Amino acid sequence: MRGWGRIGRRFEIMKGLILSGGSGTRLRPLTHTSAKQLIPIANKPNLFYAIEDVVNAGVKEIGIVVGHTKKEVMEAVGDGSKWGVKVTYIEQDAPRGIAHAVLISEKFLGSEPFVLYLGDNVLKGGINEFVEEFEKSDASASVMLTKVKDPQRFGVAEIDSKGRIISLEEKPKQPKSDLALVGIYLFRKPIFEAVKRIKPSWRNELEITEAIAYLVSHKHKVTTQIVKGWWKDTGKPEDILEANRLILEGIAPKMEGTVEEGVEIVGRVAIGAGTVVRRGSSIHGPAIIGKNCEIGPNAYVGPFTSVGDNSKLVNVEIENSVLIGDSVIECSKRIRDSLIGRHVHVASADNSVPKCHKLILGEHSVISI
Ligand code: TTP
Repeated sequence: MRGWGRIGRRFEIMKGLILSGGSGTRLRPLTHTSAKQLIPIANKPNLFYAIEDVVNAGVKEIGIVVGHTKKEVMEAVGDGSKWGVKVTYIEQDAPRGIAHAVLISEKFLGSEPFVLYLGDNVLKGGINEFVEEFEKSDASASVMLTKVKDPQRFGVAEIDSKGRIISLEEKPKQPKSDLALVGIYLFRKPIFEAVKRIKPSWRNELEITEAIAYLVSHKHKVTTQIVKGWWKDTGKPEDILEANRLILEGIAPKMEGTVEEGVEIVGRVAIGAGTVVRRGSSIHGPAIIGKNCEIGPNAYVGPFTSVGDNSKLVNVEIENSVLIGDSVIECSKRIRDSLIGRHVHVASADNSVPKCHKLILGEHSVISI
């Protein structure tokens, strides 16, 4: 089956595979209870950015690989009709690797070319150009690359003058280049042979870098494209804060809530419906406040902060932070560089005797007091 794209181009890539399983250990404790791909960036789940990029590239059918958080992912995404596409869920029994996720999706993907997109990645500028280049080529695979300062932390590609891959190494001690693999790939049918032939790595996962290296060593053409804008893999809390900053850089101001007298709003700030900003409060953009929040009295929301729906901030100062939502923070303290999950209550101990910190923290919580 073939379809027509927005600009009259005939799209060859008709299917997308987005990975939303995994264990998310680096994002504990949030991932004890929630899917990391649903952590919001500028108040929109990370996974939705991936879906939008794939849909904008002309894909009509998306397979989403889900793991232990499948119920939550399915509830958030639904059947895909929000984006005008059909979503099929593919269950992975355990995080056995990205190449394993491809392997179990063969029936869904069939023999057509497809795009593979990791659901915890965010990319500025989308993937349309990348897809168009691949459609014009006869390559078996194409990978997106970006220059990084610390290639030792990534899958690293060595490329020739035509941009074809010569070698690939996962977290090399002595990297052959500073070009890291971004979590977005295009494949044709030969990838299935590769994912079937490779063996699990030392961490007992079928590695996608090994599957691509298999294609290269079996004389398949594997091309590359360098990412033009920024790219972020949101595996760790500081990555989420950075992705949040990058998205908020481009936020448009919006005012759907109400603001009491004596409130200061500076710069680009988006405020959702049903939100009230109370007296003595100050919001400095770029920042986003969701729906039905209560900001103030006397709260300060500083630059690069996203406050999710149904949050209440009283007396507190907060900046460069992500509040997922449904939380109450009422203490006369300054909070920054923080990632705060749902249903969290931070209260003041100023009037308690003895003066002390009272903590009820779940496993793997991280605090600085
Ligand atoms: P990773 O971030 O590499 O792995 P992880 O989610 O297990 O996280 P951590 O290392 O912190 O424990 O995974 C990249 C993306 O691919 C992420 O969106 C999860 C997804 N994924 C799967 O769906 N199945 C898998 O088997 C693996 C390894 C990852």
